[in-house]
Amino acid sequence: MDREQRAESLKRRYAGSAPAAASGMRGPGGGRQRAMQADPGKAKLKNSRATIRRIFSYLDRDKKKMFLAFFCVLVSTVSTLAASYMLRPIINTYIFPGDGRPGDPAGLLRALAVMAAVYLAGVVSNYVQSRTMLTIAQNALQRVRDDLFDKMQQLPVRFYDNNSNGDLMSRFTNDVDVLGQMLSSTLVQLFSGALSIIGTLVLMIYTNIWLTLVTLVMIPVMLRAGGAVASRSRKYFSAQQASLGAVNGYVEETVSGQKVVKVFCHEDVAKEEFQILNDDLRRNQIRAQFFGGIMGPVMNCLSQINYSLTACVGGILCVLQGFDVGGLTVFLTFSRQFSRPVNEISMQVSQVFSALAGAERVFAVMDEDPEPEDDADAVALEPMQGHVILDHVYFGYDPDKIILKDISLYAKPGQKIAFVGSTGAGKTTITNLINRFYDIQSGSITIDGVDVKHLKMDNLRQNIAMVLQDTHLFTGTVRENIRYGRLDATDEEVVQAAKTASAHSFIMRLPKGYDTELTGDGANLSQGQRQLLNIARAAVSKAPILILDEATSSVDTRTERHIEHGMDRLMKDRTTFVIAHRLSTVRNANAIMVLEKGEIIERGDHDDLLKMKGRYYELYTGMSELD
Ligand SMILES: Nc1ncnc2c1ncn2[C@@H]1O[C@H](COP(=O)(O)OP(=O)(O)O)[C@@H](O)[C@H]1O
Ligand SMILES: [Mg+2]
Repeated sequence: MDREQRAESLKRRYAGSAPAAASGMRGPGGGRQRAMQADPGKAKLKNSRATIRRIFSYLDRDKKKMFLAFFCVLVSTVSTLAASYMLRPIINTYIFPGDGRPGDPAGLLRALAVMAAVYLAGVVSNYVQSRTMLTIAQNALQRVRDDLFDKMQQLPVRFYDNNSNGDLMSRFTNDVDVLGQMLSSTLVQLFSGALSIIGTLVLMIYTNIWLTLVTLVMIPVMLRAGGAVASRSRKYFSAQQASLGAVNGYVEETVSGQKVVKVFCHEDVAKEEFQILNDDLRRNQIRAQFFGGIMGPVMNCLSQINYSLTACVGGILCVLQGFDVGGLTVFLTFSRQFSRPVNEISMQVSQVFSALAGAERVFAVMDEDPEPEDDADAVALEPMQGHVILDHVYFGYDPDKIILKDISLYAKPGQKIAFVGSTGAGKTTITNLINRFYDIQSGSITIDGVDVKHLKMDNLRQNIAMVLQDTHLFTGTVRENIRYGRLDATDEEVVQAAKTASAHSFIMRLPKGYDTELTGDGANLSQGQRQLLNIARAAVSKAPILILDEATSSVDTRTERHIEHGMDRLMKDRTTFVIAHRLSTVRNANAIMVLEKGEIIERGDHDDLLKMKGRYYELYTGMSELD
């Protein structure tokens, strides 16, 4: 594979989890996560209008400010035009009054003062405008971010399982940013550009129709050239964003996987792959910025040609037709000014496109299906007892691919139900169903006789304490992390929970005990210690249902036994589901379910199962040999 092909394939892999402001314009196969990408092509154009309308809906609340801003744009544009036009009477009356009369310095000074005042009005309103627009844009962005974050809190686990964190993060940051840029500057520039063009044109016609015709010939040429450059730069701009995304994605992955990189001595490979991506980024950035950069010179050149042509024709008109010198002067100023807004508008168009692409990526998240709302007749169980019944449950993450088959069980308060089985058998999946991370395909799950689908979601989850297989700690103190399990827990209860989880002694050895700050998902703790804190978090909760998913997999056997004693007290009167990788820890369970390929193949207590001499017996004796 040559370098270019490798760059392409690497980009395809990494751009998915990276900022791609112009993702909509990304080439085919742009990234790993396609779940939320808008359809390219025609559908996009149709969407654009809806997207624009939606962006404006975020500006609605600042309508008055918008009017103020646009009024200021109007004032500043008109004042610039007026001040330019004032040159004509100034020159004609005070400088070259004609008929051999001398100029009028005092009058000139007065007129110049008026002109300065007009300019000043323009400058002031320009200042007011940019301040106002900034406020409006930031207000709107705040609302967009709020909405997006709110939405993220409502999205189901399924959504997070299907989308990469990096991609989501970049929607929150990069895509919102490009939208912000558009709101704070592009909108106004487009408006003022259009106003200037129209105003200048009107004044030009008013000044001299023949000279206007010369300019009118030049306009299409300028627009054409501007459009050609803009479309090129748009293309390279989106290529640049994709490359940037790939580089970011790659860096993100190597940073978070740094240890694995080192362990497998992949530094050189990583360096090489990074260089390929980096090189690609450089190439695309040069192209994008080159085409962005030549816009100015190209337009300048055309405007120079226009200027010379106008000057020539204007001079001839002055000599032959008695066109006034003041008129010619302002006309030349106008023709100079004319190219600026044309130039600006063609530059802004690409901004608009990337902002739209960004906005679409943001709105795509907002439009994802949230977790199902509680039914109108949903009930809350206060208090919840914890009778959990699974009745002929069938479930697959993908409805066409059933993973759990015909799962039935009954768990009473005070009982400990264990799931054992090989990796991938479906143990975690069962627990995901009890707290409704996912909804089942058929069968039923009831708690205290009420189908979980008819329970208020908050009520359900508040009553289930869970230690997930993947530990997670938030940035904050140890105490705060434990208290996450129940916000109104007292300090003593936190300590008690830590003791139950056998975490107390190691916490006391931390530099600041319970007030030690944890960062980076508890990077300064051992994996086992992280698990203990997660258990403590569940222990502080008073939920009647407790789920422990391989909660002690990284904890030594002695500590594990310690926890078990603590937990036994905790489990009293609660319904507990335990998934354990060491079978010794589930020996005392009331019922052990042996799962294989999504089915319960054996069930019973430890002794029954051993007597059966089936799969459990195999697992248990196999394990004993290893222990
Ligand atoms: N979020 C998911 N989306 C799709 N399939 C999944 C998901 N999580 C797990 N699976 C699949 O479900 C099966 C059971 O997984 P799991 O319940 O996690 O097993 P375990 O018994 O090891 O906890 C596995 O085959 C796995 O590939
Ligand atoms: Mg699991």
